[in-house]
Amino acid sequence: MTVLSLRGISKTFGAVAALTDIRLDVAAGEVVAIVGDNGAGKSTLVKILAGVHAPDSGRITFEGRDVAIPTPAAAHKLGIATVFQDLALCENLNVIQNLFLGQEIRPLRLDDVAMETRSWELLRQLSAKIPSVRVPVAALSGGQRQTVAIARSLLGDPKVIILDEPTAALGVAQTAEVLNLVERLRENGLGVIMISHNMADVKAVADTVVVLRLGRNNGVFDVAEVSTEDIIAAITGATDNAVSRRADKGVPS
Ligand SMILES: Nc1ncnc2c1ncn2[C@@H]1O[C@H](COP(=O)(O)OP(=O)(O)O)[C@@H](O)[C@H]1O
Ligand SMILES: [Mg+2]
Repeated sequence: MTVLSLRGISKTFGAVAALTDIRLDVAAGEVVAIVGDNGAGKSTLVKILAGVHAPDSGRITFEGRDVAIPTPAAAHKLGIATVFQDLALCENLNVIQNLFLGQEIRPLRLDDVAMETRSWELLRQLSAKIPSVRVPVAALSGGQRQTVAIARSLLGDPKVIILDEPTAALGVAQTAEVLNLVERLRENGLGVIMISHNMADVKAVADTVVVLRLGRNNGVFDVAEVSTEDIIAAITGATDNAVSRRADKGVPS
């Protein structure tokens, strides 16, 4: 079931066409990788879905309804969570404190014990390997921090989670840990959008890969059927796939 659809999304910054006529579909329980060279428009697309930038034109459909995402709060309310590349964790605070940071304004106030219980629940749901929730985030590995940032984004019970380059700063073992986590997210029925530069990660974990080039779609591929070479050819522009090959991915008219 499609949870999020974009049609004809365009965004300019002055004279720069950052995105032109972008189309994207994400289903519940699907991992969609968005790939593209520097300047392809990936971050702009993430920011539109996160309520940071408004598109100039186009249509966003969420759970079958046309929606606008004017603010980050609106994205959160709809059920779109974004884990930005910088993670925005507080080094000196522990895992629980980071998970619940900024949640104080919610109607549901939790006490210490409840927060610790909820923290373990979330981390267990992700099969996360965090030794203690009472250690400062500064003491955690890169993979563990990514896990904490993802767990935090799950507190709002989102339907779609967007991960911006989740493995960019990680070594081999930690990358495997984070990819495992992405699989847990899919199993939990979330629609996952993963921005990535790493073709091995894309092949390992994504169901669908969407290529952006110079702000335009340059192919939508079923990961099981596409070769790494074909993805790279679409990224570099060696092939022109401006019209989607995935007719079965459907257009709600
Ligand atoms: N806030 C901004 N102001 C002006 N130009 C921007 C802004 N954000 C992005 N751009 C431009 O839009 C294009 C797409 O950028 P971006 O979305 O960051 O690409 P990517 O994340 O794929 O590297 C680039 O040409 C970039 O310089
Ligand atoms: Mg970027």
